[in-house]
Amino acid sequence: MPATIHRPRPPVLSLIGNTPLVPLHFAAENRTLYAKAEFLNPSGSIKDRLALCVIEDAEQRGLLQADSVILECTSGNTGISLAMVGAAKGYKVKILMSDSASVERRYLIEQFGGEVQLFKATQGYGTGIQLSLEMAAKDARYFLPRQFENQINAQDHEEHTGREILSQMHGLVDAFVAGYGTGGTLTGCGRAIRAANPAAKIYAMEPAEAAMLSGEMPCCHFIEGVAGGYVPPLLRSAHIDAPVKVTSNDALAMTRRLNREFGLLVGTSSGANVTAALRVAGDLGPESRVVTVLCDRAERYYSTRLFARNNPAGE
Ligand SMILES: Cc1ncc(COP(=O)(O)O)c(C=O)c1O
Repeated sequence: MPATIHRPRPPVLSLIGNTPLVPLHFAAENRTLYAKAEFLNPSGSIKDRLALCVIEDAEQRGLLQADSVILECTSGNTGISLAMVGAAKGYKVKILMSDSASVERRYLIEQFGGEVQLFKATQGYGTGIQLSLEMAAKDARYFLPRQFENQINAQDHEEHTGREILSQMHGLVDAFVAGYGTGGTLTGCGRAIRAANPAAKIYAMEPAEAAMLSGEMPCCHFIEGVAGGYVPPLLRSAHIDAPVKVTSNDALAMTRRLNREFGLLVGTSSGANVTAALRVAGDLGPESRVVTVLCDRAERYYSTRLFARNNPAGE
């Protein structure tokens, strides 16, 4: 059996995390939100944190060998992040991605040297997760990060993202609002914030067209990266005060507003999170301190409705 390895952390990976928290003032609404700028992570999304912590955890536990292949099912951002960490540390990465994910995500993974295998989007993340388990059962070289159930995912957000937010807000957070893909961000940040202030409220943004926490059936929405037709195991243990439903069109409109009025070149789930957070702050009052997340950069959405020209409604 090949020897396990532990590769030192290359400099690019020290750029992950410690992202700024930017105040966003909405004059017409008389509200200020606080947004964690996760799009500034080196590969462009919050998922860099997950990729680094699961790979270093696997190294420490002796689960990675020289011939290991990191295999994960993802809506794309995790794939880009794993491919980046894999490139920097010298591991092979194979990504199972829904055919509904934007083509830019595929190009970015391949540019980092990762391999992409597409599966049909119709059955949600469950299809890709099942496929990854079947592949790993047949070939021992595959290492599965299992982002949807790996407690390290939520734990890392609790110990880093959540604590960074608390320190940047001087401990004063009334509410935290985020969408869920794996649920790692919501579960981990929620835990850290409520440990410091048990009265803080935690809200789960979900697409109105796929509001599974609200008891509705998943359907087609355009907020990539969240609500993949699956309530992830990690989220089941999370404290959530209430879901906040956001339509795809509202998310797209707010994302364009962030792009054009705030100069923040972020993607659609950031617009969805800000829409939900603004609604929560609307209810909590002008002095409320509501924190949300700007998850990724806009450049991975060129081929999507976000960049559709002469089409303000995003149709
Ligand atoms: C664009 C985007 N926003 C939000 C999320 C949700 O993050 P989490 O997986 O921590 O729930 C993801 C996850 O894939 C994402 O890609």
